Amino acid sequence: MRKIIIDTDPGQDDALALMTAFGARDQLCVLGVTCVAGNVPLELTSVNALKICELSGFFDVPVFKGSPAPLKRKLITAEHVHGKTGLDGTELSVERKEIEITSAIDFIIECSERYKDDKITICALGPLTNIAKVLRENPRVTESIEEIVLMGGGFFEGGNITPAAEFNIYVDPEAAKIVLESGVKITMLPLDVTHKTLVQRDFLEKLRKSGKNSAIEAAKLLDFFERYDMEKYGSKGGPLHDPNVIVYLLNPAIYSGKLVNVEIEVNSELTRGMTVVDWWSVTNRKPNTYYINDVKYDEFFEIVLNKVLNLET
Ligand code: RIB
Ligand code: CA
Repeated sequence: MRKIIIDTDPGQDDALALMTAFGARDQLCVLGVTCVAGNVPLELTSVNALKICELSGFFDVPVFKGSPAPLKRKLITAEHVHGKTGLDGTELSVERKEIEITSAIDFIIECSERYKDDKITICALGPLTNIAKVLRENPRVTESIEEIVLMGGGFFEGGNITPAAEFNIYVDPEAAKIVLESGVKITMLPLDVTHKTLVQRDFLEKLRKSGKNSAIEAAKLLDFFERYDMEKYGSKGGPLHDPNVIVYLLNPAIYSGKLVNVEIEVNSELTRGMTVVDWWSVTNRKPNTYYINDVKYDEFFEIVLNKVLNLET
């Protein structure tokens, strides 16, 4: 059982990632969900995390509030993609769960001390502010982190919030720089791979016809989420970004990429948050990231569907 912490800014695709992880309880032990401002402000991302835990029937997993803003910059959000609530497309409520008193940063530090021997994996689905704060304030945490698997960046695919940058990195480029320079094992799932996991029609149909409330609500979330990208890219489905982080943990063999150097642009406004990927090793910069650029499409959706339908609610 791999012990993981999911750091997230729900967001409909974050929701599917959480549901995929919760449905894989025989393989993943979710120690906690830590929330960060990103797609929508922290007040909403934290409530949204509670909503998804309850929707999934996962009442025992603790949810923590983290950073309300990037390390240095003003928060930029993405209501144009996710809607005002961050989970538009559904009318979910919170009946029982509450946000923990402990802060997200303190929780991650406590976990790294408690599981020093087992090691923990951090799954980062939003801006990297929380993770950067932990690494900056407690460098020894790196001894307890097996790997940081993050959704973020883009190179051959360009950007989605500016021509040069992907949203999670763009929101807090300084945090991304701290994470990439930490020496921790990093696996990055950028737009180069997540733009290959466009939601399939029959995948949505199987969710809708499952007779399971969580799967039916998941389909509603995706119906709303994918409209933006389908209009922008003229694609036949929306990119299911964040579940790639969880599916990678469940079956890395369906992914391929390369160990390369990735640097983050933090000075230029034009290319702020760009992930500068030395894919062809044209510099002597030290490789610091396993950069993934391909995935087996059918296997990906089979795993997400299987795990979401494995939820008890
Ligand atoms: O660029 C896509 C990423 O930004 C995803 O994690 C999405 O949820 C948003 O956070
Ligand atoms: Ca996200």
